[in-house]
Amino acid sequence: MRIGVLCSGGDAPGMNACLRSIVRTACAGGHEVYGIQYGYDGLLNEKFYRTDNGSLVMGMRSVSGLSKVGGTILHSSRCKRFETPEGTRQAADILTKHKIEALLPIGGNGTLQGALDLSKVWSGNVIGLPGTIDNDLLGTDFTIGFATAVHTAVDAVDKLRDTAGSHDLMFFVEVMGRHCGDIALATAVASGAEIVCIPEAEEPPAKIVETLRLIKEAGKTSVMAIVAEGDESGGAIAMQKLLKEAGNPYESRTVVLGHVLRGGSPIPGDRILASELGSVAVSAAVSGATGKMAGLVCGELTLTPLEECVSGHRRVNTDRLRLLRIFAS
Ligand code: F6P
Repeated sequence: MRIGVLCSGGDAPGMNACLRSIVRTACAGGHEVYGIQYGYDGLLNEKFYRTDNGSLVMGMRSVSGLSKVGGTILHSSRCKRFETPEGTRQAADILTKHKIEALLPIGGNGTLQGALDLSKVWSGNVIGLPGTIDNDLLGTDFTIGFATAVHTAVDAVDKLRDTAGSHDLMFFVEVMGRHCGDIALATAVASGAEIVCIPEAEEPPAKIVETLRLIKEAGKTSVMAIVAEGDESGGAIAMQKLLKEAGNPYESRTVVLGHVLRGGSPIPGDRILASELGSVAVSAAVSGATGKMAGLVCGELTLTPLEECVSGHRRVNTDRLRLLRIFAS
């Protein structure tokens, strides 16, 4: 079988480890892999990855050492043209023209919606893989890249703690995650932050300031607040302003971590997840499955219909908010 693979949407640490797994699993089974560059946009423009010896087929050695490499060697993009029915049909024709029989798109919500649309108009097998730092997808407990993004955020917060402690400051640290607060919540628990602001649990500024006053009275000279970019306040800069107006007792600074969270070498957990899911996806495609996403649910490697995966967003574990309140008091 000839299998195509692409990365689409925001890059995530572990995408390369996933590509390596796909290529090696396919090669071991006697199949061949074509890498498609720049996601669905590259597919529409017929941009294929060529190995060092100029071959379109990615062999075992073409992915050597990739587990630890951040970003994606295939490059990524967001593609509006593919989202139209004409674009999707054109992509299907291109895949058929190049005798590709299965496509494995790695990415987030938009990528998987594209995979679902394609599976409806193309005769080949489409198996999606969850590659996004946001951890917002149904059909998997963890997305590839989430654990590394949290690791990077916690490392930054730990460093900011030193300055917060030295200068009696409060820091507002903004983390990515689009509409999902999971990166913020996990970062807050792991770094011991006193405040977390996520879209899934709104709190009025006056209530947060009341908590801050209590924290100050209890003797805390410095405070960390982790703010999800999707928080209703509008992010860390807006939240800093709102709390100042509401009488925040701490002098404060803001740090927006932004795309820093998407970079760097994936931590082992992401490398393992990417390796396992890549292998599951190849086996599924080879055995004739289509319209599914490979995921990890309650410790089991699973295949979930793409329709279900894009029908909504994963719910964050808001029980963790209770933990944070106890730890911060
Ligand atoms: O989906 C990954 C993500 O990094 C989100 O957390 C963020 O909102 C978005 O992509 C940023 O996208 P861009 O890099 O296109 O600005």
